[in-house]
Amino acid sequence: MATQYFTYKGVLFPSQDYSPETLDYIENQFQVRDDDVFNITYPKSGTNWMVEILSLIRCDGDPSWVRSVLNWDRAPWIESKQRLEVALKYPSPRLLTSHLPLQLFPRSFQGSRAKVIYTLRSPKDVLTSLYHFSKALRLYKDPGPVDALLQHFLSGSLSFGSWFDHVAGWLGLQGQENFFYITYEELQQDLRGSVGRICHFLGKELSEQQISSVVENASFQTMRENQMSNGSQLSDTIMDHQKGQFLRKGVCGDWKNLLSEEQSRRVDAMYRERMQGLGITFPWD
Ligand code: PPS
Repeated sequence: MATQYFTYKGVLFPSQDYSPETLDYIENQFQVRDDDVFNITYPKSGTNWMVEILSLIRCDGDPSWVRSVLNWDRAPWIESKQRLEVALKYPSPRLLTSHLPLQLFPRSFQGSRAKVIYTLRSPKDVLTSLYHFSKALRLYKDPGPVDALLQHFLSGSLSFGSWFDHVAGWLGLQGQENFFYITYEELQQDLRGSVGRICHFLGKELSEQQISSVVENASFQTMRENQMSNGSQLSDTIMDHQKGQFLRKGVCGDWKNLLSEEQSRRVDAMYRERMQGLGITFPWD
């Protein structure tokens, strides 16, 4: 199938699983509920890792749910045509996922008490993960040479728009009590402590033993072996499983194996220009 894209309000989306009608519905009619929990990310930032963590927290560390129900049914992507149907039938309290930039997120979120967990990752590792994933995901065009993808990354002409706009938009909500952000790198450095912080934000108390089970079952290795979480169930029309794995490496700093020094400097320059105003220091700074 030829990979096609369309632009909705200045942001690019792959045509196969997204449509202007669904995006318009999500933005203007989708009803956010006060007890919704949203898992929000720019693509390749740890979305599915967070789905696993939140699913396990919801079940007090019991892995039965993550072992029996596909991750995209446990926390459906609201903007995807297929997953929206699941989201609309999901009984409260809902666990929902989205890659949407803030300006396209449901308007009904404003003034609601729904909670948002925003996970972000070093832009160079996002780019690297995306580069490898784009070769396997049929929804996305083959990235071509690294430099071509880098140019798209810097100009924001990629699915779900610019990483810089996405991060700046969502982090504009910091300080709001229903907004929490965490980095992929913090999850890597201290998963146990991170789970504790997420539980605190959710108002959920887990015992030490329950937290240990969350940590164990959300590990890269355990997720890779879990067919409900490792992407192996994605249909061949969506993913070419010969060309890549959904849980690829799961490390920090893999960009060093992809980007040249010059390419890395170009990301740094854009990063300084766009992120300085946020006044936040990230683990990769
Ligand atoms: S997607 O397609 O946008 O939903 O992808 P997303 O889930 O956001 O990001 C995929 C990357 O997250 C890594 N991943 C993990 N890393 C460490 N531990 C765990 N448990 C884990 N689960 C997923 C996954 O391997 C992708 O990163 P890369 O660098 O490509 O390996």
